[in-house]
Amino acid sequence: MRTLIVLSHPDENSLTHAVAGRIAEAVKATDPTHDVEVADIAKEGFDPRWSEADIAAFRKEAAPPADVLAEQARIDRADTLVLVFPIYWWSMPGQLKGWIDRVFTNGWAYDEGADGKVSKLLGRLGVRLVAIGAADEDLYQRRDYAGAMRTQMDVGIFDYCGAPLLGSDRLLPGAALYPQSALDRAGEIGREIAAAGRSVAA
Ligand SMILES: Cc1cc2nc3c(=O)[nH]c(=O)nc-3n(C[C@H](O)[C@H](O)[C@H](O)COP(=O)(O)O)c2cc1C
Repeated sequence: MRTLIVLSHPDENSLTHAVAGRIAEAVKATDPTHDVEVADIAKEGFDPRWSEADIAAFRKEAAPPADVLAEQARIDRADTLVLVFPIYWWSMPGQLKGWIDRVFTNGWAYDEGADGKVSKLLGRLGVRLVAIGAADEDLYQRRDYAGAMRTQMDVGIFDYCGAPLLGSDRLLPGAALYPQSALDRAGEIGREIAAAGRSVAA
């Protein structure tokens, strides 16, 4: 089994990096045969800007650009994709959103037929979302930011492509002993990913 953890954060001392690292460690500690790749697209310098080449690929007039093909190949090698990100303006950071915009292409993530019907192409890819924020859970509920994020990401992106959502966590400072609580939950998430992989492989 193989898990790809994607994060986008310029500060290697951030909680986002620590959470991603803890998930990776816990997967490996639980199942040393499980391959884990941590891809920090900030460090790698992924360009999130939508370009003319992306438009051509969207219209199926040309193959996607090389950097997009490389990301798709990396996802194709994985059974599980984990996105670890700080919540910015009740959503994911711009670079990660641009990564989705560019990498989840028409013809690879989903397919828009000539009849306008959409086929979902990512049914084999389990997805886990791990969002890290600073506001209280109470505010997420009161303003329904929780529902807005669920609709936009869980439904709008991953269900649209048919990728089963294996879990969606929001790690917030409300919990006692934060940020240790966030790191503890990251460890649990890693163990859950390894255990799910084992049961599939068995
Ligand atoms: C531009 C920006 C926008 C933010 N918007 C939100 C937000 O909408 N909701 C929230 O809970 N936290 C928000 N935050 C707080 C970050 O989510 C939080 O500081 C971050 O996840 C902490 O983790 P880090 O150490 O990995 O940066 C925002 C922070 C920044 C810099």
